[in-house]
Amino acid sequence: MTRRALVTGITGQDGAYLARFLLEKGYDVVGGSRASSGRNLWRLEALGIEREVRIVDLELLDSSNIVSVIEHEQPAEIYNLAAQSVVSSSFRLPVLTGEADALGAARILEAIRKIDRSIRFYQASSSEMFGDAPESPQSETTPFRPRSPYGVAKLYAHWMTVNSRNADGLFACSGIVFNHESPLRGLEFVTRKITHGLASIALGRGDAVELGNLDATRDWGFAADYVEAVWRMMQAERSDDYVLATGQSHSVRSFCEAAAEAVGFRLVWRGSGTDEVALDTKTGRTVVRINKEYYRANERISLVGDATKAQRELGWQPRMSFADLVRMMAEEDLRRLRR
Ligand code: NAP
Ligand code: GDD
Repeated sequence: MTRRALVTGITGQDGAYLARFLLEKGYDVVGGSRASSGRNLWRLEALGIEREVRIVDLELLDSSNIVSVIEHEQPAEIYNLAAQSVVSSSFRLPVLTGEADALGAARILEAIRKIDRSIRFYQASSSEMFGDAPESPQSETTPFRPRSPYGVAKLYAHWMTVNSRNADGLFACSGIVFNHESPLRGLEFVTRKITHGLASIALGRGDAVELGNLDATRDWGFAADYVEAVWRMMQAERSDDYVLATGQSHSVRSFCEAAAEAVGFRLVWRGSGTDEVALDTKTGRTVVRINKEYYRANERISLVGDATKAQRELGWQPRMSFADLVRMMAEEDLRRLRR
């Protein structure tokens, strides 16, 4: 019989890649999307799968809606990817972020407990839960010290997942996932902001890209690699938690340099602090400048993951390199903008 998966957050970056992956595995994919946001299907369209997934109204803030979707669809697996996922917005929207990212997961787990305890559950947890971590790289045994309302909300959902497994015997797993990017990434995140911004300038449109902390570092992988690990977690004999990461960290500055090269610029940095800018050596044009607005309060700079457990137990490791990822994103932005 065809296995049915319910993917919350189907309209997001990971939702689209996971849906494509599950379809390729022969799943019947039901995608949850909140009616209130007007159903933005561009990512599913970009992957050519918008007609292959069935979209249902699913709002994380509404328990009765969650219960009726699960009762009606009877999925074998639920992947909870939906979230208010923008860390910087969570400082302005701490309560909404908690409602969606913390209580949203709890509502789904409660529904599973009441409707069908055999449903498998995946929670999209985050490296933001580590926050001010006492060690680097971070693994499954690193203590959590979140530094953003988003990280705090995700940590609640993570512990609810662990508790549902340990105390209630549900199959509930959590991916403690480091940053993963793609051409389907939202423009609010720094990587796509850079590739889209620099591609626009290269095509003669748009002004310098305004960024915050250039020396912030992240462990950036490719989203399509990560959804495979998520699926593998859900097929394991027993549920557990896994860090998913590349193990390599790069700065926002080096992301800018690699993206600039991919669109035909060569960067030179001038000035310091908030006066620092990046010029293209060929044209002398300023292509990156600093805007204090994008500095993040409370940020710990170095987050880098140790995914040894996922490699050992799930046989997973990310395939795409940092250089290939940046080039792919920049080239895809150039292509889209030319169209
Ligand atoms: P994304 O592109 O921002 O997608 C988020 C999805 O959640 C969208 O489909 C959005 O729907 C939906 N959503 C937001 N609020 C909702 C609500 N109240 N009810 C129902 N749906 C709601 O995020 P992503 O990058 O794909 O990430 C997927 C998940 O992994 C998120 O939980 C994120 O926090 C987590 N995560 C991501 C990364 C990463 O680097 N990408 C790393 C660690 C963890 P609309 O289209 O209606 O806005
Ligand atoms: N967004 C943004 N915009 N970030 C900037 C900018 C800017 O102009 N300038 C510098 N940064 C720095 C941020 O301070 C941060 O250190 C880094 O770039 C990455 O920021 P984001 O791309 O916004 O990602 P994030 O790490 O905060 O959050 C993403 O990854 C998390 C996993 O660690 C999101 O996908 C979260 O949902 C996810 O959990």
